[in-house]
Amino acid sequence: MQERTGTIFETLFEEEVHQGLTDFPKHLSSKYFYDARGDKLFQDIMNLPEYYLTNSEFEILDNYKDKIAQWFSSGKGKFSLIELGAGDGKKTKILLKHLVSENVSFTYKPIDISQNALDQLEKSLHEELPDLHIEPRQGTYFETLADIHSDNGARKVILFLGSNIGNLLHPQAVDFLKSIQDLMNGDDLFFVGFDQKKNPQTVLDAYNDKTGITEAFNKNILARINRELKADFDLEKFLHWEVYDPETGTAKSYLVSKEQQSVCIEKLDLKVDFRPWETIHTEISQKYDDEVVQWLAKKAGLQIVTQFSDQGNLYKDYLFKKELS
Ligand code: AVI
Repeated sequence: MQERTGTIFETLFEEEVHQGLTDFPKHLSSKYFYDARGDKLFQDIMNLPEYYLTNSEFEILDNYKDKIAQWFSSGKGKFSLIELGAGDGKKTKILLKHLVSENVSFTYKPIDISQNALDQLEKSLHEELPDLHIEPRQGTYFETLADIHSDNGARKVILFLGSNIGNLLHPQAVDFLKSIQDLMNGDDLFFVGFDQKKNPQTVLDAYNDKTGITEAFNKNILARINRELKADFDLEKFLHWEVYDPETGTAKSYLVSKEQQSVCIEKLDLKVDFRPWETIHTEISQKYDDEVVQWLAKKAGLQIVTQFSDQGNLYKDYLFKKELS
């Protein structure tokens, strides 16, 4: 709990919303997209034809499951397959099914912040893969991974799919990769999805679908502030706006105020004024190439072991190990 000019924040959400909407330019963190409605909207996004990321990674896992499984098992006996942000595990199931059918000895340890997501995943895996050994862990990536690390048990293979890393700026991504690297031993592996630079129109279409689901997803952050912090954002008075810079590979999402307006956030005792066309920056979705991934890896003390791409070269999964000093 933190005090600021007489305002007591009960949660980090309250504090960051206050900070973001009183800053210039205004911003809100995309981590707050994901309440129950946001989770559902993201599932819908992953089924959109424009959102190529999901199908591309699905294609990679399906085409290369045999090779990937060989890298993961590396002929060295039992390992823990730890997935950060497992969600519904739809893509991971391709690997899990293959590993089980090949009688590979491993335990699947999905980590997710949402107990609800883990319960559903566990239930569906019990039905689809009754022989799979699964140990779900609820919590933040680092708490839970540090826990698993201190078990001093089997070799670790860590999965971070979906280009979730792209929601971090480069310095944050380096910090994130470093924290994972810190928890890795010499024979552990880290398998990470990185969406690639491509025709800028393809990127823009992926984040600006015709059906308006991405718009609803972006605006859900305002709906969430309305629900949880007793605010009166009128969602109709904001535009969903996406920009993509092909030079840096950064896609950015904004909410743009269509008119001069004031919004009251009762729980924060705050009135927020918007000028016409004033922006709230809500998300970055970084796109990469081999040079940038190589640079991030080096900064984090990781080494690329191999990489897998879809046919269209839209997306890549990289396999890292700890760089030996
Ligand atoms: C979760 N994350 C990798 C998605 C992305 O592509 O940045 C979130 C998303 N935002 C809009 N569409 C999907």
